[in-house]
Amino acid sequence: MRILGIETSCDETGVAVYDAKSGLLANRLHSQVAMHQAYGGVVPELASRDHVRRLLPLVREALAEARSDRDSLDGIAYTAGPGLIGALIVGAGFAKSLSFAWGKPAIGVHHLEGHLLAPLLEPDPPGFPFLALIVSGGHTQLVDVAGLGRYRILGESLDDAAGEAFDKTAKLLGLPYPGGAALATLAERGRSGRFEFPRPMLDRPGLDFSFSGLKTAVRVALRGRAATDEMRADVARDFEDAVVDTLSEKCRRALRSTGHRRLVVAGGVGANRRLRGKLRAVAHESGAEAFFPRLEFCTDNGAMIALAGCMRLAAGAAAPLAARASWPLGDGATTGV
Ligand code: KG4
Ligand code: ZN
Repeated sequence: MRILGIETSCDETGVAVYDAKSGLLANRLHSQVAMHQAYGGVVPELASRDHVRRLLPLVREALAEARSDRDSLDGIAYTAGPGLIGALIVGAGFAKSLSFAWGKPAIGVHHLEGHLLAPLLEPDPPGFPFLALIVSGGHTQLVDVAGLGRYRILGESLDDAAGEAFDKTAKLLGLPYPGGAALATLAERGRSGRFEFPRPMLDRPGLDFSFSGLKTAVRVALRGRAATDEMRADVARDFEDAVVDTLSEKCRRALRSTGHRRLVVAGGVGANRRLRGKLRAVAHESGAEAFFPRLEFCTDNGAMIALAGCMRLAAGAAAPLAARASWPLGDGATTGV
């Protein structure tokens, strides 16, 4: 079974070909980051238009790289949501047109299902069941994953997502959008412990998160001060420590309460080096093993959508879903396996 995967939920156009037997055959990505940087964030209209421009050339390149053509494909998977509705409609419309023209099934995929399956693209993939921590620009969720389409949300952010907190704090520190990775680089030069930032929600039971207060604490710490480079690096370090501590402690609790022996980490913030190290240690202490996608598959990509589409088609749970901006993981349309 061979699937073409298309990701257009935000500001990356991702196209990939995944084969159930041979694995990933091609992976192409165009990032719009440079285009949106001037605006300090993603401009939805510009994102949609750029997906229109990029999709066809990327599909041609991916099919050539995979030495595949329409006849060798078994389906076209695309991100149906959640995300920017205009951007999603471009990908969904494009995928459905190919599906119609080529006579192959169109497979709508939940973006977060793509993220949480991304570690299965690695050479030593985790089996089901597992605990998943999804930490992206739009979502922070702990998910009990019993199998494909069998998702139970254990906890989630009540306000900002972890990546959003990284990006907003990076902006306060004068770093360009999206600042998560730049903030992490700045934090490398900082010392821990100069600022006492909160570890939100750790004093409460449950597995929910809250990151907006942390960003406010950074704003207060910077207010009225001429921040030197050293101070900015120390703020970055203490902010990163606070996020990493909070995510790690909740993972520890979730591993304990579920008894899972595998922790899967996915989404853009999963590229954070300090977070990866800490979660590895937490998993080890809990008698579990941690699994991460390679760095390029932490952030948005077509490979994870092709893989998810392939698994869905193989399980007989593929449907040509309409694009939808908001879509909780675990509702009927995601399950159905
Ligand atoms: O999963 P993703 O590509 O997009 C969404 O689906 O949201 O995640 C992007 C997020 C951004 O907020 C970005 O700043 C953050 O991931 N990010 C990082 C790092 N690399 C990317 N955050 C912290 N440390 C990093 N190294
Ligand atoms: Zn994403």
